[in-house]
Amino acid sequence: MKWKVPYIDFGRQFKKQEKLHLNKFKDIMNKGDFVLRGEVEKFEKTVAKYLGVKYVVSVNSCTDAILLTLGSLGFKRDAEIISVAHTYVATLSAIKHVAAKPILADISDDFNIDPTSIEKLITKKTRAILPVHLYGHSCNMSAIMKIAKKYNLLVIEDGAQSFGAKYNNRFVGTFGKAGCFSLHPLKSLGAAGDGGFIVTNDKKLYEKLFRLRNHGQGKRKDGKFLKSRYDIDFFGFCSRLDNLQAAIVNNKIKILEPNIRKRNLIAKKYNKKFKGLPLILPKIYEKKKYRDVFNSYVIRTKYQSQLFKFLRKNKIEALINWPKPLYKHKGLKLGKTFLTNTEKICKEIISLPIFPEIKESELNFIANTVEKFFKSRS
Ligand SMILES: Cc1ncc(COP(=O)(O)O)c(C=O)c1O
Repeated sequence: MKWKVPYIDFGRQFKKQEKLHLNKFKDIMNKGDFVLRGEVEKFEKTVAKYLGVKYVVSVNSCTDAILLTLGSLGFKRDAEIISVAHTYVATLSAIKHVAAKPILADISDDFNIDPTSIEKLITKKTRAILPVHLYGHSCNMSAIMKIAKKYNLLVIEDGAQSFGAKYNNRFVGTFGKAGCFSLHPLKSLGAAGDGGFIVTNDKKLYEKLFRLRNHGQGKRKDGKFLKSRYDIDFFGFCSRLDNLQAAIVNNKIKILEPNIRKRNLIAKKYNKKFKGLPLILPKIYEKKKYRDVFNSYVIRTKYQSQLFKFLRKNKIEALINWPKPLYKHKGLKLGKTFLTNTEKICKEIISLPIFPEIKESELNFIANTVEKFFKSRS
């Protein structure tokens, strides 16, 4: 299908920094700097500075970022970790893969975990809360951290969709024990393939993750951790961020802030164009409590499947992320649950194209198409 408006236009994104990317590519290819090289180290330092955290460990995806973080924290079998069912499956698969048990809380109208639904799920086995900052919007971190403190629980943040988002002027991913991020191309800071990273202020966790991503090996330049690169401390994984991918995100992080401003502007424009239509629109916070990054622009309608089909018929690449709660996938064996708001939201959401390079004419076309849909129903 040739879209009139794609969900993201990667070609336009590339054109903006074409020279920078090609020069880096040539340099890396000529030198053969492919695995755990300078660009990786530079990326980790840049992110640590940007977020104001002590340590950053890059890995090959956010899935691995969550998995290795949970694995490093040493949860016992069946330890309960509270998270949500309206997230990408990776959040819960990481919990499952460390033999812990995902306990599912409902979400609020901001699509994120509802703090008021957490406390009643806490048992003797609860060890952690894993909030997901969905669509580029932070969870209510003061409420979550308060509960975590009260019950002595760890907080591990899934910030896959929200790199650059803030809550009370503080970046998401920096509230709990660790924050996990994705560099998947659809994310606010996206590579040309898979990538991810963990941020933390905990030195011990950092030292573990640094080696866990590389088969238990890892001599740092300052000689810390291991005497030699050939020493192996424990069985680890092969989960390294490619140097080429790191170079791409090192270029792209230079325009992250202007891109975030553009995404906010686009969301504002969408909201203005949709005013008066029977839609629930995302809230625009104007930098008070929240600084959003609008990784997705998500509208809600009773006519989800009809509007979705209409948009795609008109060559607008809308998405539904995701049409059903994770516990409804029988094969995942998450048990029988019914979370009222999660169910309702899954049946109403549609993600519209949003990327910094989107044109005014494309926004108008989308707005006119949505308007046409509702006119045809009245
Ligand atoms: C909320 C959430 N968590 C985790 C992930 C996993 O990220 P990755 O694809 O980098 O493994 C994603 C990816 O879409 C996500 O949206």
